[in-house]
Amino acid sequence: MNKIIITIDGWSSCGKSTLAKQLAKALGYVYIDSGAMYRAITLYFLRNHIDWTDENQTQNALKNIDLKFVHNTKSLQSDMHLNDENVEYFIRDLVVAEKVSEVATIASVRTFAVDQQQKMGIEKGIVMDGRDIGTTVFPDAELKLFMTAEILVRVERRFKEMYDKNPNVTIDEVKANLEMRDYIDSNREVSPLRKAVDAILLDNTNLSMEEQLDIALKLVAKKL
Ligand code: DC
Repeated sequence: MNKIIITIDGWSSCGKSTLAKQLAKALGYVYIDSGAMYRAITLYFLRNHIDWTDENQTQNALKNIDLKFVHNTKSLQSDMHLNDENVEYFIRDLVVAEKVSEVATIASVRTFAVDQQQKMGIEKGIVMDGRDIGTTVFPDAELKLFMTAEILVRVERRFKEMYDKNPNVTIDEVKANLEMRDYIDSNREVSPLRKAVDAILLDNTNLSMEEQLDIALKLVAKKL
C-alpha cells in the first residue's frame, strides 16, 4: 500500500503527540516528535551556558549537537538522545519548557532541525507533529492536520503530565507557560505556527482519544 506523510501541527498541549502516536501505531508508520528536537537543543544550550542571542556561539554549539530518536524497548516509544545520552526525562522539565520557544525562534536552530526532519520523511510512512510541519518541513504532505482545543482543557492535560514528575508545579505556572509559548510560536519571524491552507482543522476539546483517532483514520483512508 502507498505510504504517505501525515503532518500534525497546532498549539501547545492540544494532544498532537497523542494522536500522532495513535496514528503511527494503527498504520505501522514512524512517529517523529519534532518538538523533542527543539527541547534537546535547548537543554544543550542551558547545560553548556550558551548565549543563544549570540549567533556565533549558537552556530558553534549546533556543530556539537547530535540528535537521535532511539527506540525504547520498555516503553515501546522513541526516546530523544542528545549526544548519545537519553534526555527524554530532562527535556520535559519546566526549565526547558520555559526557554524552548525562545530558542526555536532562531533561524540557524530551525535550519538545523528542519534539515534532519526532512531527511526522516524521504521514505514516507511518517507522522510528524510540531508547529511548522505542514507549512515548512513537508509542504507537500498528503495529509495535514491542525489541532486545537480550549485553553483550560489544554492546561489541565499538561498539568496532569507535569504533576507526576514535579508535584510542586502549579496550574497557574503551566497556564502561563502554555500562553507564553503559543504567543512566541505564532509570532516569530521564521516559520511561525500557522494552519497550512490545505490543513484540516481538528478541535478535540470534546473528543475522546478513540473519537479523534477514528476521525483521523477516516481522513487517512481517503488519501490512500
Ligand atoms: O511540541 P512541544 O511542546 O514539545 O514543542 C516545544 C517547543 O518547540 C514549542 O513551544 C515550539 C517549538 N517547536 C517549533 O518551533 N517547531 C516545531 N516543529 C516543534 C516545536
